[in-house]
Amino acid sequence: MEASLAQRRSVRHYTPEAVSLSDLSQLLWATQGISGADKHGPVRTAPSAGRTSPLEVYVVTAEGIALYGPAEHQLQPLGDKDVRQALAEAALDQGCVREAPLVLALIGRVARTVDTYGDRAERYVTLEAGHAAQNALLQATALGLGAVPVGSFDDDQVRHILGLASQATPLYLICVGHPAPK
Ligand SMILES: Cc1cc2nc3c(=O)[nH]c(=O)nc-3n(C[C@H](O)[C@H](O)[C@H](O)COP(=O)(O)O)c2cc1C
Repeated sequence: MEASLAQRRSVRHYTPEAVSLSDLSQLLWATQGISGADKHGPVRTAPSAGRTSPLEVYVVTAEGIALYGPAEHQLQPLGDKDVRQALAEAALDQGCVREAPLVLALIGRVARTVDTYGDRAERYVTLEAGHAAQNALLQATALGLGAVPVGSFDDDQVRHILGLASQATPLYLICVGHPAPK
């Protein structure tokens, strides 16, 4: 844990090598996976206000788009088109989004949290994205991968690319890959 905290850096250049399925599996578990259960139900690796679990993780690779299902720890394929170039354009053409073999898009569903927390829901969902993203970044570091959290993008364009309705809030694009040699 201390080693990952000490070694974490934003890494924006990657080799073309894909992130392996086992590394992807571990990254998704770290981001939003189920780590156990108690009398209130499943517990995730990242805290969630009132366990309303408003975050979704979309996986973008050369193979297309998929949605992570924490309960089954499975990916639900949503399309086989490579949208990484379009995603990079939506993110102000940032090179890290263009180069990354893997982008984890953290999407907020504020409606899930509003019933319990009303006006504070939007704040809570944003805070949760920070928890989940940090888990992803530290896990990437521990796996020897490089990653950077990207918050600068056009929400509507990201929604359009991922096929999301207007109620879904894109919060972060986490670019991941094998660090390019310096
Ligand atoms: C909310 C937030 C948004 C960010 N958005 C971007 C971004 O759009 N593009 C980018 O390259 N880095 C982005 N970063 C990463 C920061 O630039 C980076 O963390 C900062 O330069 C410090 O470097 P370090 O992560 O290596 O400590 C973002 C970081 C945060 C916390």
